[in-house]
Amino acid sequence: MLPFDSLISAQQLTPEIVANVISVTDAMAQNIEQSGRIDLLDDKVVSLLFFEPSSRTMMSFQSAAQRLKAGMVFAQSAAGTSLEKGESIEDTIRMVEAYSDIIVMRHAMPGSAEIAANTSKVPFINAGDGGNEHPTQALIDVYTIHKHKGRLDNLNVVFGYDSLQSRSIHSLSRLLAQYPNNRFTFTGPKELNPRDEVLTDLRALGVECEIRSEVELGDGFDIAYVNRLQQERFADQALFDKNRRKYRLTRDKVEGSNCLILDPLPRIDEIDTDVDSLPNALYFKQASYGVPLRMALLAMLLGKA
Ligand code: NCD
Repeated sequence: MLPFDSLISAQQLTPEIVANVISVTDAMAQNIEQSGRIDLLDDKVVSLLFFEPSSRTMMSFQSAAQRLKAGMVFAQSAAGTSLEKGESIEDTIRMVEAYSDIIVMRHAMPGSAEIAANTSKVPFINAGDGGNEHPTQALIDVYTIHKHKGRLDNLNVVFGYDSLQSRSIHSLSRLLAQYPNNRFTFTGPKELNPRDEVLTDLRALGVECEIRSEVELGDGFDIAYVNRLQQERFADQALFDKNRRKYRLTRDKVEGSNCLILDPLPRIDEIDTDVDSLPNALYFKQASYGVPLRMALLAMLLGKA
């Protein structure tokens, strides 16, 4: 069980909740291995509303719902729905809650998840609200770190390369800030550093934060969490064009370091493909944990785990 009906922000998650989610995720992974699909949600219908592009989040939620034998209602992109005609988020949710037992939504507007969750009478999951938050991705990320590093505290983490606009970086940094002795370095184009308020909030939680224009992974980093420059969120496309190929993990930078490489994906320019075969390149494995983790969340929010 979770102490909330809707997951909107990583700020709702505590180490205790995360520990719970991790153990239910492990159980779901075991279920997949043993039986493929289980009957846990065969009396439920899940709505998946993806009004912004998605591959992994959308398909892993679909797979999770299928593996739990839930029914599904599905909208991919606002095109073809009444949002395109100008219907409000509130009215869309009022309609969809009548069709399903839980709603998962991705929407381009920051804050849309809160509006939807406040409207919805059924549990709601934020699958990304613009450049704001992506809490289910943060849970996948901490699940990956916990599995491969064995701890979520005492970590030296470097985030790049668009800490300003990456909702995945926002949510993961907020979540890891809850654990003792974590240190964060943010790297990338100076225009894409985190906002001062974000740094102030992280520091208030006790995290040592640093901004560096360049880093060496061999400098004691445990985790490098990289995400593409968020092209669709740039007001100034020239800034994107100028920087898109400047920041990139190459094999020579990664090889020989013990630093684990994570990326919520899609990978665009931020990691060379010849990094993929290195043992510390975890991003595809990380994405695969999305299915058992989202099974755990669906089941927990529906009171079935
Ligand atoms: C991320 C997202 O949508 O924010 N992708 C994902 O959900 N795995 C990262 C990104 O799009 O860069």
